[in-house]
Amino acid sequence: MATRQVLVIAADEARGSALVRALALGLLCDVTSRGFGVTAIGHKPPDAVVILVGSLGQDASVRSLQDHVHPFVAASIPLLCLLESPTLHDEVRARAIGATMVLASAAPSRVIAAALRTLVASPTTQRREAQQEAMRAGVRDVGFVLADLMRAASDGLRVDGQLSEQAAQLMLRVLDNDGIGRWMAAVGLIHDQTYRHCLLMSGVMASFVLQLGLPAPDCQRLTSAAILHDIGKALIPAEIIDKAGPLTEDERAIFRGHAAYGHELLVAQGGHHPEILDIVRHHHEYLDGSGYPDRLRAAQIVDPVRIATICDVFAALIERRSYKPSLPVAEAFVLLDEMHGKLDIDLVRAFKLIFGSVPFKG
Ligand SMILES: [Fe+2]
Ligand SMILES: [Fe+2]
Repeated sequence: MATRQVLVIAADEARGSALVRALALGLLCDVTSRGFGVTAIGHKPPDAVVILVGSLGQDASVRSLQDHVHPFVAASIPLLCLLESPTLHDEVRARAIGATMVLASAAPSRVIAAALRTLVASPTTQRREAQQEAMRAGVRDVGFVLADLMRAASDGLRVDGQLSEQAAQLMLRVLDNDGIGRWMAAVGLIHDQTYRHCLLMSGVMASFVLQLGLPAPDCQRLTSAAILHDIGKALIPAEIIDKAGPLTEDERAIFRGHAAYGHELLVAQGGHHPEILDIVRHHHEYLDGSGYPDRLRAAQIVDPVRIATICDVFAALIERRSYKPSLPVAEAFVLLDEMHGKLDIDLVRAFKLIFGSVPFKG
């Protein structure tokens, strides 16, 4: 078997070389500083890439690192990111640029070496497993971000738009690599109804906008809006949000307040994109004027909101709730068709083409 090769990209080459010595991998390792660009060992692509950096705090440094590792990520080469003391934000950023695995650089050498050996052991199986792990980690990390955002909203703290953007970037990357089916399966394991719904809806939305071929900044903004779309639920009493059964008419009226409350909260905080605000407020509006909170009609509802509404209705149909099982995708499609007049039928048609063959367990 050919010798496995590992490329170490270190902010500081001396630290990179020290790491290679400490790991004593017995693999062919080449160390480069990202400042000098990246070259493959002997013009052959490496079997794994290690990034050794302090943190991923600066947007500019993240972008520069992303440029360097992009060719490897695109070629599905496993990427181990070693950070000084990875925070949730760091981990989300690392996953967003394509890290297969994130570890603290201070972890014991045997732990890092074992992780790296696993990553290069059997490229085909390993890459598949690494992708599955990246998907599970993606769902987990976006779930943590969502929990942070919901907690901030209910505690009257700032809902960090940058954090939701980073989570959106992460979702778009894992979904682009691995598709919505696996995302849905991983999300289906989440117990909490609200988190499960938000992760499912935003995964569906991310996948839809990717498949529609929208430009990357639009995909990111719309996915970020999807992550935040039900942020107002943080302000609705838990006994209504978590009620194990259908809501009464009075409870439904309170529940429906979430769209306007979420919008008012983000407007009061400032700094959120108008399109995100529009989706948060209007994702329950229907083209025939029967939705809420503003009973808008077709001419007042822009495409991004129409897209969000379809994704939201679809997610609600196929997910299990405490009072109903998940609906098979084919049956959900029939119900979407029956909402002709309420939903944009051209977008529904495109949506069905994209999600027609997706396996889903709610
Ligand atoms: Fe909603
Ligand atoms: Fe929703």
